[in-house]
Amino acid sequence: MLDPKDFKEHSDPVIGWIDHYLNNITKFPVKAQVAPGEIYHAIPQEAPLLPEPMEKIMEDLDSTILPGITHWQHPGFHAYFPANSSVESVLAESITSAIGAQCMIWDTSPAAAELEQRMVEWLRDAMGIPSGFEGVIQDSASSASLVALITAREVATGFRSNDEGVPGNLRIYGSAETHSSIEKAIGVCGIGKRNLVKVGTDPKLQMDPSLLKKVIGQDLERGLKPCAVVATLGTTGTLAVDPLKEIAAICKKEGIWLHVDAAYAGTALLLPEYRWMIEGIEQADSFVFNPHKWMFTNFDCSVYFVKDAGLLIKSFEVLPEYLKTKSRGRVNDYRDWSVPLGRRFRALKLWFVIRSYGVEGIREKLREHIRLNSYFCEVLGTMDGLVMPVEPFLNFSCFRLQPDGVTDPEAVNQLNEAFLEEINRSGELFLTHTKVDGHYIIRMIIGQTYVSQSHVELALSRIKEAATLTMKNFNPLG
Ligand SMILES: Cc1ncc(COP(=O)(O)O)c(C=O)c1O
Repeated sequence: MLDPKDFKEHSDPVIGWIDHYLNNITKFPVKAQVAPGEIYHAIPQEAPLLPEPMEKIMEDLDSTILPGITHWQHPGFHAYFPANSSVESVLAESITSAIGAQCMIWDTSPAAAELEQRMVEWLRDAMGIPSGFEGVIQDSASSASLVALITAREVATGFRSNDEGVPGNLRIYGSAETHSSIEKAIGVCGIGKRNLVKVGTDPKLQMDPSLLKKVIGQDLERGLKPCAVVATLGTTGTLAVDPLKEIAAICKKEGIWLHVDAAYAGTALLLPEYRWMIEGIEQADSFVFNPHKWMFTNFDCSVYFVKDAGLLIKSFEVLPEYLKTKSRGRVNDYRDWSVPLGRRFRALKLWFVIRSYGVEGIREKLREHIRLNSYFCEVLGTMDGLVMPVEPFLNFSCFRLQPDGVTDPEAVNQLNEAFLEEINRSGELFLTHTKVDGHYIIRMIIGQTYVSQSHVELALSRIKEAATLTMKNFNPLG
């Protein structure tokens, strides 16, 4: 057991470890290369009865745990969406854990509540979200969207569902590209997944507002109750942007809650040149984006904005005797703004990141990622046999091998699956895939905080080598 008076002695090796890790991260394979169960079986079956020395624990961190880590902060991490971080954020998280505050209500740490209030205002103003919106930090976009749908459900049922249960006629509209967290939330909040209506998309995979209008009309005719529309700015598959302005006009006319899921691409709103994405935002009711994806702030940190915080609080408030305080009503008790009671002090890392970078510093980095993506696409576009089936956007692109004369879609899909495996085999890169209209495509995101031109050049040469090798081994007849 360690004593706080020896903190420096014990923390020095750990700080040294972090320093070495961050500065040598490219020496690790980006994606963990272990088999299922390998780490589990390397951990003793029983907990130690007697204390073990820190030196031994740190040794085991290197030998047992590290091989099973996928290195999200590696500049060759181009998979999924990033969960990028920064030195500032790592330092702030260390302080947060030392403070160890549980920030459920204002009284349990007034600074945490008030810093949170100010941080979401800083972001709201820097992103061009209307000043009437208020915000709260949640653990994830999934939680924020659940909160949005529960609030929409309460509004649609005159605040009766929390008490009486949920009627079976509420309808939620998204597109086929809407994130799976929305489907999950619809199930969890009792509306029922069968009440999710997947509206058709246009060729750019953006929700088609005329189809939205049509399905809402059909539902009304059947006596069903439109409850909420979820518009996505930056879909997970291909970063498609739903046309917010048109969707917002429909929601306004029909009195339907409009939730905007900008989990990934929302960060781009810090750049004035991308504000077109939120034309119509003043008609939206709620909006979520994740600084823990592309804004250099460690997971977890998701910012949820809501136009009428009163509706949110009315949907989530419960007040047991033991949580009654004298400050109530004059302060933000954020436990009433989300599902869990207990809350981490997440605002501190935002404060560190925003102050140390400055908004302009963040913008500079975002623009550099976008520039690197343009460069990547320009060079990739010249490579034989590769096509880019979807228009690149921000720091995202996608591509696939399309050999001349091969028309069997399944054969081409299998070829691309083998191509992706070959790209990832080197351990220097990690990319993932999705399917568009049944076609397997490889996604590339350039969003790790410290990624640079040389990393992108390395990625391009590995992709080129992998394409050549995959084509060499390809037998179109199977
Ligand atoms: C568009 C979109 N919405 C929601 C989510 C879920 O985010 P979280 O992991 O914060 O719940 C994601 C995750 O990638 C996403 O891309």
